[in-house]
Amino acid sequence: MWLFCGLISCFLTGGVAFLPAPQNLTVLSTNMKHLLRWNPVVQPRETVFYFVEYQGEYESLYMSHIWIPSSQCSPTQGPECDVTDDITATVPYNFRVRAMLGSQTSAWSTLEHPFNRNSTVLTPPKMEVTEYGLYLVIKLEDLGPQFEFLVVYWRREPGTTEHVQVVKRGDIPVHLETKEPGATYCAKAQSLVKAIGRHSAFSQTQCVEMQGEALPLALALFALIGFMLVLMVVLLSIWKMGQLLRYSCCPTVVLPDTLRITSSSQKLISCRKEEVEACAVTVLSSENLLGAWISET
Ligand SMILES: *[C@@H]1O[C@H](CO)[C@@H](O)[C@H](O)[C@H]1NC(C)=O
Ligand SMILES: *[C@@H]1O[C@H](CO)[C@@H](O)[C@H](O)[C@H]1NC(C)=O
Repeated sequence: MWLFCGLISCFLTGGVAFLPAPQNLTVLSTNMKHLLRWNPVVQPRETVFYFVEYQGEYESLYMSHIWIPSSQCSPTQGPECDVTDDITATVPYNFRVRAMLGSQTSAWSTLEHPFNRNSTVLTPPKMEVTEYGLYLVIKLEDLGPQFEFLVVYWRREPGTTEHVQVVKRGDIPVHLETKEPGATYCAKAQSLVKAIGRHSAFSQTQCVEMQGEALPLALALFALIGFMLVLMVVLLSIWKMGQLLRYSCCPTVVLPDTLRITSSSQKLISCRKEEVEACAVTVLSSENLLGAWISET
């Protein structure tokens, strides 16, 4: 009887030597990053591998308790596994781990209580507040696509109202318009995760003194000057190009007068005639002048 049982256990554990199962499975979850950990199975001078499998509510209810190998850890070498990608719904998940050394495998060790991602620890988001002209610039921690942030900001003065802004993602700094140059503004933020319907506590309040309009005005002026310079260069080059094209494509040749006259004898004659008449007129007029001058004297 004992021999039979021993054979069964040998068959079940899949090897001659006994490899202990990993102990103390826990899920550490912070800001929707889920890490499954266990106590390592120590075998001197040997490398132990681990296989992780999971079972969501769907698998346990509708798929006859099928276990799915974890995307990151089949197998893995360290005594932990990032199971963030395996957990895609806000339902209880079971996890199990077994060790493997050569041809030996340990028994499965299962998480004591199923893990639900709604129990993740949400920390107040890291936040950096600066100013840019009349804008309050809020840089938030990028916690991934599941996170939104609620930013509350106000002018530091008794009795001022708080403004609230929902920020959809943490990777782009938010510019919040303020109306009072030289005033001090304060801000705080909390993270929201719609998938689990929870939010973190607010971060510590940070305040910053607004500089005012000087900076944007100077910037605008610089931009204007730069734009004018570019415009001038463009216009100049267009004009230059136009000239170049005109001379190289359709050159206008101006014939010297002498060439034009010899091209037609008829013209030459008529020209001569006119010239002679013109001469006669001038001669006549000068004779008249002379006459007038003589008569006067
Ligand atoms: C179980 O794991 C947790 C987290 O990794 C650790 O803090 C604790 O000391 C472990 N307990 C034992 C008995 O090893
Ligand atoms: C998580 O969701 C379960 C139901 O699925 C609920 O019983 C439990 O109270 C929730 N826990 C938290 C921390 O919201």
